[in-house]
Amino acid sequence: MLKGKVAVVTGASRGIGKAIAYKLASMGADIAVIYAGNRDAAEAVAVDCENTYGVRAKAYCCDVSNFETAKETVAAVKADFGNVHILVNNAGITRDGLVATMKEEAFDAVLDTNLKGAFNMIRHCTGLFLRNREGSIVNVTSVSGLIGNAGQSNYAASKAGLVGLTKSIAKELAPRGIRCNAVAPGFIRTDMTEAQAENPLLGAIPLARMGTPEDVADAVAYLVTANYITGEVLRVDGGIAM
Ligand code: NAI
Repeated sequence: MLKGKVAVVTGASRGIGKAIAYKLASMGADIAVIYAGNRDAAEAVAVDCENTYGVRAKAYCCDVSNFETAKETVAAVKADFGNVHILVNNAGITRDGLVATMKEEAFDAVLDTNLKGAFNMIRHCTGLFLRNREGSIVNVTSVSGLIGNAGQSNYAASKAGLVGLTKSIAKELAPRGIRCNAVAPGFIRTDMTEAQAENPLLGAIPLARMGTPEDVADAVAYLVTANYITGEVLRVDGGIAM
């Protein structure tokens, strides 16, 4: 289904990003595994993609919040794979805290990675998408960005920003055949939510379980291939934000 396509997945060394990399590889896409720190884990994901699904895959170290590094990384992917057709902006961090005591640095770090990082990657892939007259972007936002969450003002702001970014880019690039959508996960079992196992909000999930990275990856794969959908924000949250 995605044979001959090249997908860039950020934050793909673990968690949701890793599941997205595997899912898109299983559909035939070649995968650029973008990671921030854990080289061994990222290279293991790339090797798995190649060995299990017979696609090409390679790991690239890139701090997506850095405009120049993002530019160099997209150029390196183009040099290695020849093109980019799919971009999944999954890299994200949390620095939770109450607003009365939140450090400026915690606000900036979360906005820089989650929102500016997505902009940086989109900015540097768009030239290729325009030349191809096709492209599919999926941004990983969060239900926190849709309904807010006490103690996550920085994170929720970054994720709400991603919704605005998604819809604006969808409108801007639709005439050129480029789509931009988002998924908004709820509580997904990963390293990021390890500390949430006792969160009382879990009891409010209508489907009565945390999500899996694969639940999110399935939604991303759907949006990547849904040719008549753009500017959509698809909740993958067991119903918690309905
Ligand atoms: P995780 O912490 O397991 O993985 C995040 C990945 O992003 C890691 O591989 C990390 O190295 C990478 N990353 C962080 N900063 C980076 C940077 N500056 N440059 C490049 N890569 C960077 O988290 P998880 O749970 O897999 O989350 C993935 C995405 O899903 C994030 O955007 C997160 O905000 C979002 N999300 C997660 C939810 C959950 O319940 N786990 C719920 C809603 C959204």
